[in-house]
Amino acid sequence: MASIEFVQVTQAFDKNVIIQDLNLKIEDGKFTVLVGPSGCGKTTLLRMIAGLDPQSSGSVLINGEDVSRIAPGQRGVAMVFQNYAIYPTMSVRENIEFGLKNNKVSKAERIRLVESISETVGLAPYLDRKPSTLSGGQRQRVALARAMVKKPSVFLMDEPLSNLDAKLRVQMRIELIEMHNKLGTTFVYVTHDQVEAMSMADTIVLMNGGEIQQEAAPEVIYHEPSNLFAAQFIGVPPMNIGGLGIDGAQFGFRPEAGQLSLDPIDAHYRLRGTIVIREMLGSETIYQVKCQEQSFMIKCTEDLFAVDQEVHVGVEASKLYFFGADGNRIGKSDPLYGECLERMRSRSDG
Ligand SMILES: Nc1ncnc2c1ncn2[C@@H]1O[C@H](COP(=O)(O)OP(=O)(O)O)[C@@H](O)[C@H]1O
Ligand SMILES: [Mg+2]
Repeated sequence: MASIEFVQVTQAFDKNVIIQDLNLKIEDGKFTVLVGPSGCGKTTLLRMIAGLDPQSSGSVLINGEDVSRIAPGQRGVAMVFQNYAIYPTMSVRENIEFGLKNNKVSKAERIRLVESISETVGLAPYLDRKPSTLSGGQRQRVALARAMVKKPSVFLMDEPLSNLDAKLRVQMRIELIEMHNKLGTTFVYVTHDQVEAMSMADTIVLMNGGEIQQEAAPEVIYHEPSNLFAAQFIGVPPMNIGGLGIDGAQFGFRPEAGQLSLDPIDAHYRLRGTIVIREMLGSETIYQVKCQEQSFMIKCTEDLFAVDQEVHVGVEASKLYFFGADGNRIGKSDPLYGECLERMRSRSDG
């Protein structure tokens, strides 16, 4: 097991600075998910931990030790990529034990390790098969097993589930959580998919443009986003956002925080609107409601309304979020917060 720390790390390719003065601590034994839009620098961070692209400046520490001069193979980390490379001509067993043979592990120990790991990832019945006879999910498990068998103290995964179909992805998410619980190893998992991040992470590190936007447990990012980016990146549909009409400030509320009714609603923020889209998803229905100035997405557990129906929209004061012109959250303790709340009441129409 191992902790990881970035201290004032900058990474530039040629003259392009991708990451500047980044500081981050990844806790020992935790499942940490780096999430953010494509191109924000997630893979770049992972590769610096692995030592595949050493940083331009600053230090990367593993278990408190500066690993800048330590070769990738000596860092005790294993990495699994989206495009897992498994050897098609080797059996599952040979694929898994490949790295061990290179490390001169004895035959008896190799057999023991391969059997124990293949049990963990559910590959025990397939050890003598060739990869071409396996499903996509099973092949990805071979790649995971091959990384695990080396008993790394850090397990790095770069979008390992992206190539799997939706159903298998959900299943593999659960398996990865179970694997993490069993192994207790530090997992650093990269994805652009916020649902994956929310479902698997102990800690989410949310990135954009090479910068960390927020680092917190999933429920904290969801309920207490520190800025507009976090508020809109995490959650489906994303948080509704609108202008407050003061100094570029904006308000927001989650789709499930909006109430809909045919009668006027006694809420802090009230609007009238028309249902323009109804998406019935089974256990919930998402309505797009067009109000005077803009549209909002409202998520309801009951399917009570139809397109073209006139409705009242209400949001409780406690469910409103406010953001300054710089995008940062205006928290409840901020002197501006009261003014924002007042503004919402005066903007109510309904
Ligand atoms: N070896 C490299 N040479 C030049 N630019 C790179 C290299 N690796 C990554 N980049 C650039 O760094 C940025 C971040 O890339 P990456 O870390 O792969 O993003 P992510 O994994 O979040 O999608 C991108 O703009 C990408 O083009
Ligand atoms: Mg990437």
